Amino acid sequence: MHFTSSQLILLQLLGDGGCHSGSELGAAIGITRSAIWKQINQLIDSGIPVKRIRHQGYQLPNPLILLNKEKIMGHLPLQTQLAPFNMHVVTSIDSTNRYLKELPPSNTVDICCAEIQTQGRGRFGRHWHSPFGENIYCSSRWNLNYDFTKLSGLSLVTSLAILATLNELDISPNIKIKWPNDILWNHKKLCGSLIEILAESNGNIQVIIGIGLNVNTDTQNHPLPDKPWCSLYEITKQYFDRNVLIAKLIINLERYLTKFIHQDLSSFLDEWNKSDYLFGKKINVTQSLDTLSGVACGINQLGQLILQDKSGTKHFLSSGDTSLHEK
Ligand code: BTN
Repeated sequence: MHFTSSQLILLQLLGDGGCHSGSELGAAIGITRSAIWKQINQLIDSGIPVKRIRHQGYQLPNPLILLNKEKIMGHLPLQTQLAPFNMHVVTSIDSTNRYLKELPPSNTVDICCAEIQTQGRGRFGRHWHSPFGENIYCSSRWNLNYDFTKLSGLSLVTSLAILATLNELDISPNIKIKWPNDILWNHKKLCGSLIEILAESNGNIQVIIGIGLNVNTDTQNHPLPDKPWCSLYEITKQYFDRNVLIAKLIINLERYLTKFIHQDLSSFLDEWNKSDYLFGKKINVTQSLDTLSGVACGINQLGQLILQDKSGTKHFLSSGDTSLHEK
């Protein structure tokens, strides 16, 4: 999917949510009304819901603030704890995780954000729904000189960094973390993360942390067939500037990763326990070969989920897909 610079300017102009006539848009961009008509048609063909209003003009159903590299960088500190940030803002990409995986090695923390992902990837090979301009699709690549065996806690630390960001917005006390890396609100998925670890030959480890945060989609009116989802818009009925949120996420991610490198997971346990969605609930955990059922009893210092089965035996699980046990 490719967007021309005129189309991006058009989206910027329509982003205020108002109705704009073809001649007004044409004058602003320096092209004719019929050229505007063509560009709008192409945007509609790409799935962007521009409305044509007879005798009046064009309008987006919701306000839109496009991603802007300078704006994101403007909200990030110049001094970093781990390495300087290097921001890549792209309009359309298959997957921001894939983009970073193929970038040559660097001494920076590379961050990739996109307006749309055509093949957004979730855990267990699932698809991550990534509509244009609505939500955050952001991956960051970190060079960590760290004990490989401790990396199992990384998903949990990432979830806590995301939760800290959401709590800073002070929008709801009901945002919870579901082991290992789902963020839920009212039992619906608000955010997920996909972590990929690449070992380098020099013993260093590169970690790619991909975050999908549902921000401005009207999820109530656009339910997904497979899983209940929600967005910050559904929680607050407000639209958010994703540029500011991305910067907040990166700042918290760096803060949490730095703490994780110097301490370990035990220093995060209290924070986890406060927002643990599964604690005390009857759940199923699906792993590659079987499904275990029992009561979730929190996590241990390695970040493993503690599951107590009917016979009282405790299982310590390092991976799996968790769901509430249907009665
Ligand atoms: C999940 O809950 O299954 C994980 C979802 C992770 C989605 C994000 S969006 C940015 C990054 N790029 C991807 O292709 N996936 C992650």
